[in-house]
Amino acid sequence: MTTPTNLIDGRAIAEEIHRETAAGVAELQQRGVQPGLAFVRVGEDPASQVYVGMKERMSARLGLWTETRVLPEQTSEAELLELVGRLNADPRVHGILVQAPLPRHINAAKIYAAVAPAKDVDGFNPVNVGKLMLGDTDGFVPCTPAGVHELLIRSGVPIESAEVVILGRGNIVGKPMAALLIQKARHANATVTVCHSATRDLAAHCRRADILIAAMGVAGFVKADMVKPGATVIDVGVNRVADPAAKSGYRLVGDVDFARVQPLAGRITPNPGGVGPMTIAMLMHNTARAAAHATAG
Ligand code: GUN
Repeated sequence: MTTPTNLIDGRAIAEEIHRETAAGVAELQQRGVQPGLAFVRVGEDPASQVYVGMKERMSARLGLWTETRVLPEQTSEAELLELVGRLNADPRVHGILVQAPLPRHINAAKIYAAVAPAKDVDGFNPVNVGKLMLGDTDGFVPCTPAGVHELLIRSGVPIESAEVVILGRGNIVGKPMAALLIQKARHANATVTVCHSATRDLAAHCRRADILIAAMGVAGFVKADMVKPGATVIDVGVNRVADPAAKSGYRLVGDVDFARVQPLAGRITPNPGGVGPMTIAMLMHNTARAAAHATAG
């Protein structure tokens, strides 16, 4: 079997970052600091259970101390705010991750605004969102766009002056991704277009892209005729599609019609094995950084 050479191996790049993070954690431990990360999960969303489980296991592998609080679906906003307040005050906890999505009766924006900016390893607090916008690299960048950025950098994809098209304008991926890549900074300085449900002739925008980042959550949306030959294609999507042949009854697919796009793309992320592992890698990295910052002499 020949190995396609245009794949961006997210697992391998994530491993590289994990090695760097583990070294950082060991250094902290040598000076008596045990980096700690608290997970909060509300309700029994099956995908959130899987994600938090994966993050817990990776934390353990890298030497992070973790604590997971699982609250019932009916938990009130006030109760959740109270827990966040306690974690903000807990010196063992350097990073706090409240897993999204939260139940509908809870105002997620209010919860994320309550996480102390210095412990906000998700980068969802308005202080960190503002820092990212302003190009202040002091803050935390949300893990998925930070992971995509690292993938591009470590794969040697030219970003400066590139035409980047982002599909999706969500607060977790699309908006922060755009903010990262428009900065007047090294490995940024791109021309960024953000497309969304009200965009006219979305395919025409896509065809101009040197870097196409799909993050809108529609299975197989990006077709071959939307991609400029030689473009870099990053698939952030995680979509469940029914699959009677699978034991679970479904399988996970991305936003890109991979089989048809891969042959003409310059570089492309597989899915799974592309962006997913990078999101976890950046969370671990952010947590080690939060601990280092909180305990710096
Ligand atoms: N749900 C999907 N992605 C994320 C993420 O990056 N952080 C949190 N907290 N929840 C999520």
